[in-house]
Amino acid sequence: MKTLYLVAGARPNFMKIAPLVRALRANGANLGFELIHTGQHYDHELNDVFFDELGIPAPDVLLGAGSGSHAQQTAKIMVSFEETCQKRRPDCVLVVGDVNSTLACSIVAKKLCIPVAHVEAGLRSGDMTMPEEVNRIVTDAISDFLFVTEPSGVKNLLNEGKSAARIHHVGHVMVDNLLYQRDKLALTDTSAFESAGLKLRLGTYGAVTLHRPSNVDTRHALERIGATLRNVAQRIPLVFPAHPRTRGNLDKYGISLGDQVVLTGPLPYMDFLNLWKDAKFVLTDSGGLQEETTALGVPCITVRENTERPITVEQGTNVVAGTDPDKVRTEAFKILEGRGKRGKRPNLWDGKAAERIVTILARELA
Ligand code: UD1
Repeated sequence: MKTLYLVAGARPNFMKIAPLVRALRANGANLGFELIHTGQHYDHELNDVFFDELGIPAPDVLLGAGSGSHAQQTAKIMVSFEETCQKRRPDCVLVVGDVNSTLACSIVAKKLCIPVAHVEAGLRSGDMTMPEEVNRIVTDAISDFLFVTEPSGVKNLLNEGKSAARIHHVGHVMVDNLLYQRDKLALTDTSAFESAGLKLRLGTYGAVTLHRPSNVDTRHALERIGATLRNVAQRIPLVFPAHPRTRGNLDKYGISLGDQVVLTGPLPYMDFLNLWKDAKFVLTDSGGLQEETTALGVPCITVRENTERPITVEQGTNVVAGTDPDKVRTEAFKILEGRGKRGKRPNLWDGKAAERIVTILARELA
């Protein structure tokens, strides 16, 4: 039996690993797997809570990387992942997304001549100031299997000279997880959820997540974000579950968002889904949420100058508004006045991407 290492490190990885675990288990004895948690995220709120509710088994290996500068974090993960691979060599290393763990583990595997599979390959923002863009480009450059979520990914990879034989347009494991969790949520008693109390109290609301370094790490950028949120909140209350880094910077720079913005800690997946699926709109700089809102038809305003996920704009509910407070407010008000965009769910975002990936890997690694 062949063994696949599934690498997860940070919150947005866990949602992508969960459907792969289910598909691998359903696939039977052909392809075994071990789960490697790099420890990039370690707080209970960004970490354990997801493992429990997404149905991910406890990691087989925990590398304990923790926080640090990009170089420190990446280097720590590389050193300990290399030791893991040398002790028990897998037949393939599968990495997801674009976080530092993705980059670190793909480089280690490739230098040990272990095939690398990258799930969510080919996305490009064209913005080299985003750490994720660097991670994507390097990971794709050395991956043997490039599993792509949308047609732009195929085009980008072909333009960069990757051979078509390595590129597989399979759809999106993130959406597999979303549809699975949405069905589970429909059967769940949500009365104890933090989101349930907020929904009762607020009636209508917008949901906010912001954590990109370019939006929240400097005083200037975060002050603009503060102005934007206070502006929009004049018309509708906003619920903002804040990443620990965002929360820390709001405190550090002494920026107040006003009474109409409800700040919470990071929410568990289902609690947050219960919040945003019924929001008037989602205002975000996250990559994954641009796609999840498109998958469920919820209006999304992206507070960035670009997106690496253009299908959410071409076919979905996403509007890339930039970071100008007036532009963001205009887009929010448009939605509140019923002039928001409607969209459709892209091809292959059907809940079966993980099955397609496992079928391809089982065949190719046999
Ligand atoms: C990482 C990913 C980003 C992803 C985000 C989702 C990279 C380059 N970035 O960003 O793409 O969208 O996760 O959450 O990999 N921290 C905690 N608790 C934790 C982990 C981090 O408080 O469990 C704080 C620490 O102050 C830490 C900072 O967040 O220094 C940054 O953590 P890091 O893992 O480097 O990046 P994220 O900002 O979480």
